[in-house]
Amino acid sequence: MNRPDPVSALTVSADPVIKAPSYIRHERLLNWVRDFARRTSPSNIVWCDGSEAEYDRLCAAMVGTGTLVRLNAEKRPNSYLARSDPSDVARVEDRTFICSNREEDAGPTNNWVAPAEMRKTLEQLFEGSMHGRTLYVIPFSMGPLGSPIAHIGVQLTDSPYVVASMKLMTRMGRSVYDVLGPDGVFVPCVHSVGAPLAEGEKDVAWPCNSEHKYIVHFPETREIWSYGSGYGGNALLGKKCFALRIASVMGRDEGWLAEHMLILGVTSPEGRKTYVTAAFPSACGKTNFAMLIPPQGLDSWKVTTIGDDIAWIKPHADGCFHAINPEAGYFGVAPGTSYESNPNAMETLKRNVIFTNVALTDDGDVWWEGMTREPPAHLIDWRGESWTPELARETGRKAAHPNARFTVSATQCPSLDPEWDNPAGVPISAFIFGARRSDTVPLVVEAANWEDGVYKAATMGSETTAAAAGKVGEVRRDPFAMLPFCGYHIGDYFAHWLAMVKTVKNPPRIFNVNWFRTDQSGKFAWPGFGQNMRVLKWIIERCQGKAHAVQTPLGLQPEYADLDWRGLEFGPERFATVMRLDDARWQSELAAHDELFAKLGAKQPPVFAAQRRQLGARFPV
Ligand code: GTP
Ligand code: SPV
Ligand code: MN
Repeated sequence: MNRPDPVSALTVSADPVIKAPSYIRHERLLNWVRDFARRTSPSNIVWCDGSEAEYDRLCAAMVGTGTLVRLNAEKRPNSYLARSDPSDVARVEDRTFICSNREEDAGPTNNWVAPAEMRKTLEQLFEGSMHGRTLYVIPFSMGPLGSPIAHIGVQLTDSPYVVASMKLMTRMGRSVYDVLGPDGVFVPCVHSVGAPLAEGEKDVAWPCNSEHKYIVHFPETREIWSYGSGYGGNALLGKKCFALRIASVMGRDEGWLAEHMLILGVTSPEGRKTYVTAAFPSACGKTNFAMLIPPQGLDSWKVTTIGDDIAWIKPHADGCFHAINPEAGYFGVAPGTSYESNPNAMETLKRNVIFTNVALTDDGDVWWEGMTREPPAHLIDWRGESWTPELARETGRKAAHPNARFTVSATQCPSLDPEWDNPAGVPISAFIFGARRSDTVPLVVEAANWEDGVYKAATMGSETTAAAAGKVGEVRRDPFAMLPFCGYHIGDYFAHWLAMVKTVKNPPRIFNVNWFRTDQSGKFAWPGFGQNMRVLKWIIERCQGKAHAVQTPLGLQPEYADLDWRGLEFGPERFATVMRLDDARWQSELAAHDELFAKLGAKQPPVFAAQRRQLGARFPV
């Protein structure tokens, strides 16, 4: 049978009269695509339908152009490796902009440029930016298709890698147009790698623009424009740009929360189910915590995964906050992921994965630092160069980039919670805030009340990681793990959080955790990963009014006997190492809070001053 290829059938020439498939009846959308195509001059336009066939065809084409390497089908079926340009490996916070009409609405933690000025810059950059490339139209839903909590976006991009990634990460495809109808609301997201091809010019494996990168949000008109990068949150615009920066603005206006949080379910041995969310900065443990497998001793407990990165949280008629995961896949950190640290992730990654910037083994599989105790004797590293353990010892060269990632559909995760796709979301009992701190911050503390919890989340500090370009390991304030992701003034965001407690009868309890404290030899003092279940169990039992805590200068904390140590040898002295509160360190920590407050000026919530005074008095100089 000679059936027409569904994608090439929809592929039209650069003629500005765009022949869209007849199932798209949305005039505004069609006009927008037409105008954008006129501006960017692509060679053709592909209207993505989200089918498996389309995905396979795109990947095959990218293997042809060298963008993807097909992995050994016996080891890793239907999986690919992408190597990015070495200059395009992470989010670029200094090139990320919130272009609100008024500068003060972007606030002290965002880069701001006046919208008119930014539009001029972008219009120049996008002019002809897709020459010689294909423009893809990607319809996607953040959240279950048609759910009252979900929102629709349409991304225009010249990167087939982005199309394939969006297919794994979101509910993407033709059925989105049914939900959209002739005049539904969508967030317009435009993206170009910023590398037009001249006539006859040969393409590179990872096109991007090393000179100009712009990740731009217009919060009032709810638009996203991204230029120059093909990597992660810079380019998969449903993720940080839409589901956090734009959605946080929607949430402020409409009375809900868009947060950098995982969502997990805990089932007790008696079969009681509790859901919690947890916010950690980038590369600080969300994916691992979301997929936790309880350790020996606590194996009658069970953890299930709703989401690993983003939560949309709304007050529900039942008096609780309900959370959904707007995403449908994981863009997770590869280094450190192993059968020891995160077996659920390893199982998720067995097939149908796009890996980016990991190393290639000689038998066509992937490897990264921490995957196995012993590295293979030879690899092709993330830059495409030969690598050996000896070379690594001599030069310190990593086989995988520290921000190497896997992209995979959530449906492959063995711990996926049966409710993960429930349009109503799941009721939340606790908000957990974690950070990466080698000192000062204890393993766990519970806030006295909502205001205290909001204060602690707002003043959280964390050591920077390779998830964003820039220095690694420097402590900075990362309020709510949202520093790079809040789409408006952070002081208004704190006020929004303080006000949200009044929208529910049963607000969650708030906890702070730190898995990353180090001992005198510089090693992690807490075993982490599955062992975090011991802390999680205490948190769950606190929510149920069962577990004991003592009042310390910082808040409510467990004593040694309050955690369940069955199956682990971890004595009281080691417990003290991860729990100790040092007066001098806390004084300088509180001084860092003051630095944040100084930036807020009049937008510092009045209750914060009282919280700060109380804490100051409890840590004598
Ligand atoms: P993003 O996707 O960037 O938002 O990161 P994330 O918060 O999901 O972090 P992820 O779970 O991917 O972990 C990042 C790194 O921290 C990985 O290398 C993990 O192996 C490591 N990590 C996660 N949990 C723990 C833990 O409990 N202890 C220690 N020591 N390391 C951890
Ligand atoms: C993060 O940096 O928090 C991530 C990866 O989850 S990215 O999608 O690049 O933002
Ligand atoms: Mn993240």
